[in-house]
Amino acid sequence: MQFGYFDDEHREYVITQPDTPLPWINYLGSENYFGIISNTTGGYSFYKDARLRRLTRYRYNDAPLDTNGRYIYLRDNDPSNPHFWSPTWQPTRTKLDTYECRHGMGYTTIRSELGGIAAQTRYFVPLGENLEIWELTLENKRAVAADLSLFSAIEFCLWDAYDDANNFQRNYSIGEVEVEDGVIYHKSEYRERRDHFAFFACSEKLTGFDTQREDFLGPYRGWDNPRAVEIGKTNNSIALGWQPMGAHHMKVVLQPGEIKKIIFLLGYQENPKTEKFDPFHPLLINKKTVKPLIERFLQAEVVDQCFSELRSYWVDLLERLNVSTPDQDTNRMVNTWTAYQMMVTFNFSRSASYFESGIGRGMGFRDSTQDLLGFMHLVPERARVRLLDLAATQLPNGGAYHQYQPMTKMGNNDVGSNFNDDPLWLVLAVSAYLKETGDWSILDEKAPFDNKIGTEASIYTHLQRSLQYTIDRLGPHGLPLIGRADWNDCLNLNIFSDTPGQPFQTASAQEGKIAESVFIGGLFILANEEMEGIAAYIQKDDDVITCRNNSMKMEKVVNAAGWDGDWFRRAYDHFGQPVGSRECNEGQIFVEPQGMCVMAGVGLDNGKAEKALDSVNEHLAFEHGIVLLNPAYKKYYLHLGEISSYPPGYKENGSVFCHTNPWIMIAETKIGRGDRAFGYYKRINPSSRESISEIHRCEPYAYAQMIAGKEALKPGEAKNSWLTGTAAWNYVAITQWILGIRPTFDGLQVSPVIPEDWKGFEITRNFRGVKYIIKVERIGKGNDVSLDVDGTPIQGLVVPIPAAGTNEVHVLARLR
Ligand code: GLC
Ligand code: GLC
Repeated sequence: MQFGYFDDEHREYVITQPDTPLPWINYLGSENYFGIISNTTGGYSFYKDARLRRLTRYRYNDAPLDTNGRYIYLRDNDPSNPHFWSPTWQPTRTKLDTYECRHGMGYTTIRSELGGIAAQTRYFVPLGENLEIWELTLENKRAVAADLSLFSAIEFCLWDAYDDANNFQRNYSIGEVEVEDGVIYHKSEYRERRDHFAFFACSEKLTGFDTQREDFLGPYRGWDNPRAVEIGKTNNSIALGWQPMGAHHMKVVLQPGEIKKIIFLLGYQENPKTEKFDPFHPLLINKKTVKPLIERFLQAEVVDQCFSELRSYWVDLLERLNVSTPDQDTNRMVNTWTAYQMMVTFNFSRSASYFESGIGRGMGFRDSTQDLLGFMHLVPERARVRLLDLAATQLPNGGAYHQYQPMTKMGNNDVGSNFNDDPLWLVLAVSAYLKETGDWSILDEKAPFDNKIGTEASIYTHLQRSLQYTIDRLGPHGLPLIGRADWNDCLNLNIFSDTPGQPFQTASAQEGKIAESVFIGGLFILANEEMEGIAAYIQKDDDVITCRNNSMKMEKVVNAAGWDGDWFRRAYDHFGQPVGSRECNEGQIFVEPQGMCVMAGVGLDNGKAEKALDSVNEHLAFEHGIVLLNPAYKKYYLHLGEISSYPPGYKENGSVFCHTNPWIMIAETKIGRGDRAFGYYKRINPSSRESISEIHRCEPYAYAQMIAGKEALKPGEAKNSWLTGTAAWNYVAITQWILGIRPTFDGLQVSPVIPEDWKGFEITRNFRGVKYIIKVERIGKGNDVSLDVDGTPIQGLVVPIPAAGTNEVHVLARLR
């Protein structure tokens, strides 16, 4: 069952009924000011940091699930039948005659009609601005004039979202607002230490307003039934304490056929410390800089202009890589939605979604490094800055803070370090940056360790320390020690948590000298191979040899201690017993080492790779994807940690943890099995699951972190959409390994491993300032490639970098 459809031409998902299984959301904003918005306008906005600078409130885990948002009410003032409704369905949930929500690239438009009154609201954040626009168009389709009242409503958050949801004995007394010329200013804590405030403005002359929630709603009422809207009259309340809000009220009389545009602005503004207050009224906000801004954005032409700029911005970004394959789900996810989702994960890491409250985690080290892997060609300049920020949170011993705060960029001490895979991902990310951009200067760029001045070292040195960190931490079999956890945050082999409420990863200080990770072994080999390539390119011959020795040595260890007979083992626990082995009662096979070891090339020469991947197919793959492990743990194993705390089939305990699936896709391409690789790609591709939306439940246009596994109560049910490394990894798997167009240090490689029955495909890709137009034709059934570049056959698989000044390169690849 579907709740909408893709409008590929406009790069929009069109939702045709408001009661989707879960709120289906979109993101507003590109750089500093952001919002999340559902298909019925639920959600909130913030400046830079969803915890520390939250503009509006949102209530997670409420009933209904999607409570608080950017609300608009219409009231028909006809005295014989006064009634009101929300043209975006929430919060009144009045049945509408028509409803349509279009989530597009950085904007959301909701249209509806009720009793001949059509309303369309477009929400977006203009590029480079710290404000959002709600552009409302009303049309009277009745044969008679309509006498309407229009209300807006938002609830302000007292900036620190954590404190706001916690410290009520203080919060109920600190709310402050100002209202001037119809603009509502939220200025809690402005008198003392804050230099910022929020403003909520409207293009119409007001009949009234409210800024105190209870005055607007009335006692014991909710957003679905505000008293001010019911009676058609606001109170002009000025909030002091309690719950400051913003509501505008205006009267709108529309003649038959009349169309009217009304603009609302919600924004964030900072004043210089020395000019905070109005020179004539020392307790009022100085509005010198904000007033012209408000005036400007309340003009319809300016709003139109900003919207077209936003559209062109996205067209330009998305045209950097465009594919045309025989498969529709692939085309739309690659060309639009997965690229878009990568921008979202780049901006938010794991902080703000409908499953991430914005107050928990900062930027994850391994999350952000992996999110970059597919993102490089979109905005390489921002990727470069991110890499330097990440490197600066590395510790002198090569380890890394597991998370850092986006505003301060400092490592988070509560979580600390010792997640032993973390530093290795930096090598992969820097290598991907080099391959994409050819900007070798980043290796000489300096970044400190732990953000301490005086410790600066080159990025190349940072990468070397990353590798050294593993070498300094090898266990009894010669495999890397796992530390608090490796990629799987929930495999906590050194923690032994038996007390409710303890964080599984940090409950004990124990680092452990025995528990080892086969997964990190694979990752270490892969990172060494990347580093070897980097060192070779800049002619550090000694380092080339070191890397080669390191990976050869680890490969031997993984082949011996990491092999279980039919697949790679997952780990060794604190007692030296294998995890992910036939010897185990439960959790006999895990997905991660099969993907990582084969990606690193282990087992390609001795049949183990093929065997391991066949085991994945046999034991882990099912119709909804590849589960993380099998059989799932039914009871709690103290020595394994958080993983067995989840019920079977959920999260790390045997769901389809989507992030890992592309590793298997890539691994399958390594052994030339295009049909298998693509089959796995299709199973979790959100668009190809659109027709089972009632089972999948999450958005059909964004990847979710997990899909409930075969042992779950409801297999196939997705959760935790949007903020997951799945986006970047799937993008890499499909574009670089299945379609096979991948950046290398020396040029663009063309090595498709596609399904046997595909006749071919086309791709255009910007690479280092040149547009490559690549056509792939299948003439035989295999994966052997021959290349013509601009009409001339070339040797090998890599299209060399063209002469300076070349704008376009045409490549014809024949597959046989
Ligand atoms: C979450 C975390 C990620 C981790 C994964 C598996 O997605 O953000 O860092 O690797 O879970 O536990
Ligand atoms: C990852 C896991 C989650 C776990 C968390 C701990 O995000 O997916 O299950 O609770 O890490 O930090």
